[in-house]
This record gives sequence, C-alpha cells and structure tokens, in this order.
Amino acid sequence: MKQKIIETKISIYNFDELSTEYQILINKSKEQVLKAYAPYSLFHVGAAIELDNGEIFCGSNQENSAYPSGLCAERVAMFYANAQFPEIAVRTIAISAYTNGNFLAEPITPCGACRQVLLETEMRFEKNITVLLYGTEKVYLIENIKQLLPLCFEKSSLNN
Ligand code: THU
Repeated sequence: MKQKIIETKISIYNFDELSTEYQILINKSKEQVLKAYAPYSLFHVGAAIELDNGEIFCGSNQENSAYPSGLCAERVAMFYANAQFPEIAVRTIAISAYTNGNFLAEPITPCGACRQVLLETEMRFEKNITVLLYGTEKVYLIENIKQLLPLCFEKSSLNN
C-alpha cells in the first residue's frame, strides 16, 4: 500500500499587510455583497475579478425560488468577465461574504462547483489565478485554483 499526501499552501495575512492592489480588489468584493440577491439563505457573497488588462469585474450571488437555478457570486463574476474579455487571462479573484449583519470572521471558501469553474478559466489561459479569501480576522492567499481542487477533473482527463 502506498499513500499520497496532497498539500495546499495558504498564506495568511492581516488585511493591512496586503498590497494596495489586493486591498482594492477585496474592497470591491465587499462592496459587491450589498448587491447580492439572497432572500432565501440571507448569505451575501461578493466576488471581484481582475483581468490581466487591469479590468475588474464583480458579481454577487443570485438566488431563485427554485433553489438550484441560482448562482454563486464567483461564477456570476467569472462568467461575466470571460464573456466580456474571452481573450484575456484572469489575474486575481477576491471573495467576501456577509451574513447576520457582519462580514465573516473566517475567510469564505468557494464551493466545489465554483472551484471547478474557476479551474477551467485557469487552465484555459494557462495562467495561475491568485485567490484572496476575505475574513475580518484574516485573509487567505492561495496561489492558484489547482490548489483548491486537488485530484481535479479537467480537459486532459478526457484524453486519458
Ligand atoms: N454562495 C456563493 O455565492 N459563493 C460561495 O462561495 C458559497 C455559497 C452562495 C450560494 C447561495 O446563494 C448562498 O451563498 C448560500 O449557500
């Protein structure tokens, strides 16, 4: 029997330690939670994406009375960005969440379906996407999406 251990590197920052570029992107994701449509979960999520050309696209979660028809903030933002600039790679994504009158103290972590979609964009442009996960107590920085989705299913898996 053999074992394989898979590790994810998470750099943990105080907000004030981050670069101005990252602080701006996080603040945009925080502003975006105000635009969420989340009457069912009351869990408001904002995502801000910076492209390689400096453009920033934001999204918030959009819920629906038929629950599965709604969409997470990350996918709203990523599909929006990719639809506007299909040739431009994504540099960074920042994610924040707000519920019960507060931003989460611990960093928000994206759901599995969003990780899969973010991975597709990372692979599509063959460029790492930096992930900033905001919490009031700390911010997680992860260097690429692949680390968020080990043992992933991706394009090359189809040719195995
Ligand atoms: N949600 C997001 O938008 N992003 C996440 O990373 C986690 C969950 C949304 C989906 C749903 O509208 C609400 O948060 C509760 O799950």
